[in-house]
Amino acid sequence: MSEVLTFNDVSVVRGRKDLLKDVSWEVKEGQRWIVLGPNGAGKSTLMNIAATRLHPTRGTAGILGETMGKVDVFELRPLIGLSSSLVANAIPANETALNVVLTAAYGMTGRWREKYEKLDERRAFSMLHQWGMSTFMNQPFGKLSEGERKRVLIARALMTDPELLILDEPAAGLDLAGREELVAQLTELAANEEAPALVLVTHHLEEIPPGFTHILMLNAGEVVAAGEIASTLTEENLKATYGMDLSVREVDGRYSAVARRVN
Ligand SMILES: Nc1ncnc2c1ncn2[C@@H]1O[C@H](COP(=O)(O)OP(=O)(O)OP(=O)(O)O)[C@@H](O)[C@H]1O
Ligand SMILES: [Mg+2]
Repeated sequence: MSEVLTFNDVSVVRGRKDLLKDVSWEVKEGQRWIVLGPNGAGKSTLMNIAATRLHPTRGTAGILGETMGKVDVFELRPLIGLSSSLVANAIPANETALNVVLTAAYGMTGRWREKYEKLDERRAFSMLHQWGMSTFMNQPFGKLSEGERKRVLIARALMTDPELLILDEPAAGLDLAGREELVAQLTELAANEEAPALVLVTHHLEEIPPGFTHILMLNAGEVVAAGEIASTLTEENLKATYGMDLSVREVDGRYSAVARRVN
């Protein structure tokens, strides 16, 4: 299995604060990762490094066989799909849904543009269609609902057929049915052998799609635990992550957690 991410003692320091501290993490081809941790734990910071948007202060970040700092990030970016609030905030409100997806292709070699424009347009439409958004293709991004926006962002992240797909809280703001639909679609994606390596940041165990294989648990910029979900998502590790006694349930591959009742 080839390496998708090889992070060795990655730290990000801002002022006197360590946003990430000595994070070592390996993601291999075919793996599907969940990243869990309280607000401010450093999840999005870590995702921004994986997506080449941020350089570590210390340590080495290997991404798809290249090392950050030693490679032109613009060569790597088309190989990495990212859906996050950072991406959402960078999109002009008047951009149509189709254009939001289509412009992901502009990161690729400019001189191909004219020849490939129609092809790109068809792929962008098909991506929107796959994520149930084709009827919204002409609607401005700023006028889409939260859930619709999330779907457009995932379609955009997949536009370049990446080798790594990073979804930072894709279910935030979705209604219950919308969440369940997204979980079903991500379950399908996880089962697809052709799909890229997946990294999904979430706050809720209910959002872990069955078929996801690994979990990284962070607290205050440090790794609490990392490994296969079945052996790593334990009540002990959840307590170390959140500082709270939680009781975990798993039914048919779906997880949930609630505070442990004190008798
Ligand atoms: N440029 C910066 N300078 C100083 N602190 C920063 C900077 N960027 C982020 N932080 C801080 O780093 C910490 C980690 O932020 P990050 O966005 O990675 O957390 P997160 O785990 O994604 O949280 P959430 O679950 O709320 O999205 C936060 O405490 C945040 O305030
Ligand atoms: Mg975040």
